[in-house]
Amino acid sequence: MGVLDRRERERAAAFTRVGDLERYVGAHLGLRRVLAMYLGVEPGAVRFGRDACPRCAGAHGRPVVREVADAPYFSLSHSGELAVVAVARVPVGIDVQRVPSEETVELVERRLHPEERREVRELPPERRPFALASVWARKEAYLKGLGTGLAHGLGHVYLGGRPGVAGAPVGWLVRDLPGDGRHAMAVAVAVARHGAEGLRIVSRALPTGPVA
Ligand SMILES: CC(C)(COP(=O)(O)OP(=O)(O)OC[C@H]1O[C@@H](n2cnc3c(N)ncnc32)[C@H](O)[C@@H]1OP(=O)(O)O)[C@@H](O)C(=O)NCCC(=O)NCCS
Repeated sequence: MGVLDRRERERAAAFTRVGDLERYVGAHLGLRRVLAMYLGVEPGAVRFGRDACPRCAGAHGRPVVREVADAPYFSLSHSGELAVVAVARVPVGIDVQRVPSEETVELVERRLHPEERREVRELPPERRPFALASVWARKEAYLKGLGTGLAHGLGHVYLGGRPGVAGAPVGWLVRDLPGDGRHAMAVAVAVARHGAEGLRIVSRALPTGPVA
């Protein structure tokens, strides 16, 4: 816990469920360890800030590393028992989603793009929860890559309603990552400037164990 900064410790202290606390702390310790490797500093020395939101310029855009020239972009996600981190030289977003119950699929699928919803519904019922988690993970990865988050909805962009068949907004590469069957994961990378050729996607799944 001593490695975390004041804001992280305050957020950790606000969790009322032990599992949520452990996942948050495990994810942030993992994020610090991964970034520390790239920056050549101790995990506790990584300083975080926020970019301005690209939509409203508020101070809730993508999290960034402060006080380091040319610091890499990064993205963090935690859900269920997993946390995932992505680091890149270009804007990047990553997301992990716990596969929901069949009842939750019914409630959530209406927030998708109409075409994605149709594709999810065409699947046999037992495959729909994983398909929903997959498309949701792609959406969050892309919207976190943009830095906007989900505030303006998930239905306006088509990213594919079947696992393994991701759509791609112009200038972005969106890919499913291998999950563990209980979670779906995806990454979105801004390729507009450099193109996708030669791009290597390497991500790390961090089990969030007991608080260190
Ligand atoms: C940010 C958001 C996408 C996170 O999704 P989630 O499913 O709750 O959580 P995830 O584990 O996938 O991701 C959380 C991480 O995303 C990152 N994140 C937060 N805001 C982000 C943003 N704008 N862009 C990119 N990444 C962001 C943080 O690292 C966060 O980790 P932390 O909460 O442990 O600090 C979601 O909460 C959201 O869209 N919030 C609305 C934001 C909003 O209202 N914006 C107003 C725009 S005008």
